[in-house]
Amino acid sequence: MNHFLDIHKTEASDLRSIIDNAGAMKAARSGRPKGTPDDDQPLLGHIVALIFEKPSTRTRVSFDVGVRQMGGQTMVLSGNDMQLGHGETIADTARVMSRYVDLIMIRTFDEAVLTEMSEYATVPVINGLTDRTHPCQIMADVMTFEEHRGPIAGKKVVWTGDGNNVCASFLHAAGQFGFDLTFTGPEVLDPEQEFVDLARSKGANIQIERDPIKAVEGADLVVADTWVSMHDAQSARERRHNLLRGYQVNDHLMGHAKPDALFMHCLPAHREEEATSSVMDGPNSVIFDEAENRLHAQKAIMRWCLGV
Ligand code: CP
Ligand code: NVA
Repeated sequence: MNHFLDIHKTEASDLRSIIDNAGAMKAARSGRPKGTPDDDQPLLGHIVALIFEKPSTRTRVSFDVGVRQMGGQTMVLSGNDMQLGHGETIADTARVMSRYVDLIMIRTFDEAVLTEMSEYATVPVINGLTDRTHPCQIMADVMTFEEHRGPIAGKKVVWTGDGNNVCASFLHAAGQFGFDLTFTGPEVLDPEQEFVDLARSKGANIQIERDPIKAVEGADLVVADTWVSMHDAQSARERRHNLLRGYQVNDHLMGHAKPDALFMHCLPAHREEEATSSVMDGPNSVIFDEAENRLHAQKAIMRWCLGV
């Protein structure tokens, strides 16, 4: 049994085999109606709990559909409706849930909740996003990049804007998959130094460049995310917009990256804020492939977790 808690906590060879399996499973389903079961039914007889303490569209639907395609069943639970949200400890919740279900995916605020859940659960736990990281997203993003451009190792990825949870998982992935990452954003929104140091300790070339135009020079991939994340105070919205306006990904900025540079955004997006529709719907955008690949990548993650 394996937990999937973070990219840097999973062996690079396991990450690679998950991406490869995701691609094979995607290819095997090519052209079939979405409701068609997979030929393999590795989750037959398995029940997966999907716990959400924050909103979600992609994570919720892609996990649910993925489990069903592999023959399993799901229950989608809102943290607020569980005793978890009303004082029951994480440890007790983990021990109880482990008596009922075969796998737990949780989207939560505090990373400590995920850690405690994984320490006390006797079934695999998957990180469906915390305030600090979003590893499932980046597995889909690496898969998507490689589908379009081949191996990501040695390529230049540029993260624009807020050094947030998705950025953190990109930094972890830079260390594990061997790509370069340049962060461009205001200093007060830099990614946590711990994440930068960890990526560098694994040999990744991590740069911080305040000038977005200089940052995207030679970029193979430009990435944007919302300027105000779910865990950010809404009162910080105006201040963040003022800080980040200069980092919008628009045609002018993309014009300074490599001509074939891809554009990614994990979604949900605020169009005309962090990125313009001309970029999001432009020829180099792969945002909907990313969204689709959440399904395939997470199916491979669940199989790896369960060893099936
Ligand atoms: N990208 C992503 O995780 O989207 P949701 O918040 O809709 O799950
Ligand atoms: N950084 C965003 C990602 C959403 C998928 C957030 O945490 O709200």
